[in-house]
Amino acid sequence: MPGLVIVGAQWGDEGKGKITDLLADRADAVVRFQGGNNAGHTIVRNGKTWKLHLIPSGILHRGKLCVIGNGVVVDPRVLTDELDELRRRRVDTSALRISANAHLIMPYHLMLDHAGEAKLGKQQIGTTRRGIGPCYADKAARLGIRLQDLLDEKILKQKIIVALEPKRLSLRPYAKDPALDLQTMTEEYLTYGHRLEPYIADTTRIVHERLDAGHLVVFEGAQGALLDIDHGTYPFVTSSNPVAGAACVGAGVGPRDIDEIWGVTKAYGTRVGSGPFPTEVDGAFSDMLRERGGEYGTTTGRPRRVGWLALVALRYAARINSMTALAITKLDVLSGIDRLQVCTRYRGAEGAEFEYFPYHQTVLHHAGGEYLEMRGWSEDLSDCHTESDLPDAAREYLRFVAEFVGVPIALIGVGPGPDQVIWTNASQDTVIGRPAATASAGAPEPLAKP
Ligand code: GDP
Ligand code: IMO
Ligand code: MG
Repeated sequence: MPGLVIVGAQWGDEGKGKITDLLADRADAVVRFQGGNNAGHTIVRNGKTWKLHLIPSGILHRGKLCVIGNGVVVDPRVLTDELDELRRRRVDTSALRISANAHLIMPYHLMLDHAGEAKLGKQQIGTTRRGIGPCYADKAARLGIRLQDLLDEKILKQKIIVALEPKRLSLRPYAKDPALDLQTMTEEYLTYGHRLEPYIADTTRIVHERLDAGHLVVFEGAQGALLDIDHGTYPFVTSSNPVAGAACVGAGVGPRDIDEIWGVTKAYGTRVGSGPFPTEVDGAFSDMLRERGGEYGTTTGRPRRVGWLALVALRYAARINSMTALAITKLDVLSGIDRLQVCTRYRGAEGAEFEYFPYHQTVLHHAGGEYLEMRGWSEDLSDCHTESDLPDAAREYLRFVAEFVGVPIALIGVGPGPDQVIWTNASQDTVIGRPAATASAGAPEPLAKP
C-alpha cells in the first residue's frame, strides 16, 4: 500500500511520461508493466528533453527504484543504448531492475513486424515496426525467450532454434540477413546478457517488499486504452493490454495492491498509425493544431492525426480502467481557438446514435462525432499555476469534461515543463493530499549496486 497506476486514456502519447515523472517525486518506485520500445515518453526538465522508450519515467530522480516488469517486452539493443545515453547525460541508472521473466524482442521479431505490415499493404496497422506484436505472439505461443535465458548459452541457443523453426517460411526473404545467423544472434544476445546481468532480478518480490513496507509504488502504463488488444479498436491496436488491470499481471501484484488509477488525456485527441478516429479533423485546422501541439511521434517521428476530444471514448476508458482521477494535459494548446467542440456521442452510418463506445468494428469505422460547441479562450495559459488563474471558458471546459466522464480532474497540464501544471483542489483527495507515504513507512532493504 499504496499503488497508483498511470494509464493512457486515448490512443497513446497523452503525456504519461511527464505525469509519471511528477508523481515519481513522491513515490518509492516506478514500474513499467507492459509494452516495449513502441512507447516514447517525453520528460522536460531544466530546459532539457528526455525521451524514454523502455526505462521508467522515474529514472531522473536519483536513486529511485525503477522496474521493468515481467509484462514488458525488451529489445536489449534499445535498452543498452538507452542506458548508455542516460549515463552519457550523467543520469544515475544504478537503481534500475529488469524482470528475469520479461520477454526479449529478437531480430526476427523486427523482420516479422516489417514483413507483416508490408503484406497488409493499404490495410496495414501502422505499427512502430519495433517487433512488439511478433514478440507477444511468441510469448503466447510459449516460444518466447526471456531475460533469464540470456545468462545460459546452451539454453539460449536451444530456444532460438525452437523459436525459429515455425517461422522459416515467413523469414525466407531475410534468409541471407547476417542478423538471422544462429551463431551471430546467440553471441550478440549473450553480450547483452553480460551487460544486463547486474540489473536482472526477481522484480515481483522487490515490488512486494516496497508495497508491504507501505511505500508508494507508481505503475507507469504505455500506449492507451483505445490501443488495448482486448478493449481498443482491434485490429488497429498494440499487442498488449495498456489498461490498469494489466499493471497487476505485468508487475506481479494483486488488484488489492492498487489504490488509485490516474487516466491521462490530452484536452483534444490524437492518434498515430491507422484505424478509426471518429473525431479526427483535417485541413488547415488540423495542421495548426499539430504544429501548436508538436504532434509528431516520439518514437517514429510520424505526424500524429489530430481531432476533438471524444468524451464518449474517454468515459469508456474511465470505466474499463476504473479511473479515480484524470490528468488533462496540453490545455495550453487550445488557447486562441474561438469555438471548441467536444464529442458527446457518435453517429453511425445509418444515423444511429451511440452514447457508449461502439463495440463493433464496422460501426466504429463509419462513425462520426456529434458535438457540443463550447466557447474558447484567447489567453496564454503557460504561466497559470492555480485553477483560479485559468480563464472562465477554460474552467467551464474542464468542468464539463469531469462531469461528463464522472471522474475528478487532479492535474491540468499547461506546458511541457514540470512547473507548468495545476494541481487542482480535487488532487487533495488523492495520494497527493496525503502525507508522503514514504516518510512514514519502514525502510525496505537497500538495493545492492549492480
Ligand atoms: P506519452 O507517450 O504519454 O508519455 O506522451 P509523449 O511524450 O509521447 O507526448 C506528449 C508530449 O506532450 C511530449 O512532448 C510532452 O513534453 C508534451 N506535454 C506534456 N504535457 C504537456 C502540456 O500540458 N502542454 C504542452 N504544451 N505539452 C505537454
Ligand atoms: P506511448 O507509450 C502512440 C500504436 C502504433 C500503431 C499501433 C500498433 O508513447 O503512448 P505496435 O508497434 O505497438 O504494434 O503498433 O499502436 N502505438 C502507439 N501510439 N503512442 C504509443 O506509445 C504507441 N505504441 C504503439 O502507432 O498504431
Ligand atoms: Mg509517447
